[in-house]
Amino acid sequence: MYDFQQILAQEETLDPADWTAMRVLGHRMIDDMMDYLQHIGERPIWQPPTEAVKQAFQADLPIAQQSSESIYEEFLTHILPYNKGNIHPRFWGWVQGTGTPLGMLADMLASGMNPNNTIGDHAPMYVESQVLEWCKTMMGFPAEGSGLLVSGASMANVTALIVGRNWFEQIIREKGLYGVPAPLVMYCSVETHNCVFKAAEAIGIGQENVRKISVNEAYQIDLDALKAQIAADRAAGLAPFCLVANAGTVNTGAIDPLAELRAIATHENIWFHIDGAFGALAKLTPEFAETLAPIQTADSLAFDLHKWMYMPYEVACVLIRCQKIHRSAFALTANYLLHHERGLSAGIEARANYGLELSRGFKALKVWMSLKEHGLEKYSRLIRQNIAQAFYLGDLVAQHRDLELLAPVTMNIVCFRYRPVGTDFDTDTLNALNKEILMLLHERGIAAPTYTLLHGQYAIRVANVNHRSRKADFDALVAAVLEIGKEVSVNVASIF
Ligand SMILES: Cc1ncc(COP(=O)(O)O)c(C=O)c1O
Repeated sequence: MYDFQQILAQEETLDPADWTAMRVLGHRMIDDMMDYLQHIGERPIWQPPTEAVKQAFQADLPIAQQSSESIYEEFLTHILPYNKGNIHPRFWGWVQGTGTPLGMLADMLASGMNPNNTIGDHAPMYVESQVLEWCKTMMGFPAEGSGLLVSGASMANVTALIVGRNWFEQIIREKGLYGVPAPLVMYCSVETHNCVFKAAEAIGIGQENVRKISVNEAYQIDLDALKAQIAADRAAGLAPFCLVANAGTVNTGAIDPLAELRAIATHENIWFHIDGAFGALAKLTPEFAETLAPIQTADSLAFDLHKWMYMPYEVACVLIRCQKIHRSAFALTANYLLHHERGLSAGIEARANYGLELSRGFKALKVWMSLKEHGLEKYSRLIRQNIAQAFYLGDLVAQHRDLELLAPVTMNIVCFRYRPVGTDFDTDTLNALNKEILMLLHERGIAAPTYTLLHGQYAIRVANVNHRSRKADFDALVAAVLEIGKEVSVNVASIF
């Protein structure tokens, strides 16, 4: 028999026994993090986790209690100094944002309030609706459109593709892919981010049915090849259902010809999705407003707020042109989720009707606070600044005889390599040499670009979505690449 009386005689909670001590600790944490952020540029960008650190994370599962203070000390010793570095002014790896102090505090407030922001009549739901309206305005989406905040562009892309697939074949919700009359086929360029390919797998399309269309020398999708492929697929009895365009490819920042792709999608009567993970935000700048204007004609759009809106991880947005189509892809009635006329179960419709997730955090708060703190004009200026910095770096590279641009700089990404004149290093050697330069840049804590392969050539790749970077940081990068390059080239055989 379960002795509930005895258990209830000693009821417990997870709240602190000593609220004053917890408050003191909290204040200390905020002070420490403010110092950390204020002086981040003075630290090495990265240092590898030591053996002691790795050991610290092989401890047994804690069974007994430990004091909050001692846990925080462990954080200070074993975690904070070994951070990834994407908050540092010389971080330009992958495409990773920097975050802001107020964004950090907003996450703390959201965590303290801790609403499950999916259902119910409470302020956080209205905050998210407000944020989605602002996102639609930012991207020029129509008032009758809808959207959802999700963890990242990967989730935004898969959400959009589900909507597109279910719009194209409404039978899928009932019968799955078993119900479709012909195999579905999707189109995008070879430069498309691999999360889109994974999304295609996840929605049952399969890699084979994702047509990865070749690109031109500017890394934009080849329109003739695309049209020819669609025609061939139709002739073979397949069912083209979706065209995915890139507004900023991950490798080089290339923007596909969006207006032309929109026209093709309309002509073919297929879903037109844009992956604008970071590039869509360049629409906020005068120089890119026109090129990116067709974003507002997409059936769906994925973009991150934790990349080029500099907000702390994780938050992204998916916008769908038509709320009804969006809803019909996900809405599912369940007794325990029914909407009421009054009480806590009233209010805005459950967001679970617009995506896969039921439990959702209050990430809308950091978006709401950040947009108000800086205003769109400041974001536009910062994005412009990042693009200008990329062009500046591109110029530095182009002007130096020992450096080589591997792709045109068109937005915020610069791909280059060290290639000293007077040497006849082959591609393999240059690849190994540049990889070594990159690893040493990281290991010496100087800067953190990352890498990609372009036509088989290893490129040091700078993707600039960093509001802390200054012109001098790019000077420092170039100087370090040249210095390390010289040092390593002397004994190039040693790197193999
Ligand atoms: C073009 C593009 N699409 C999608 C993604 C995936 O975004 P996330 O990492 O936020 O899921 C990225 C990430 O860098 C990207 O550059």
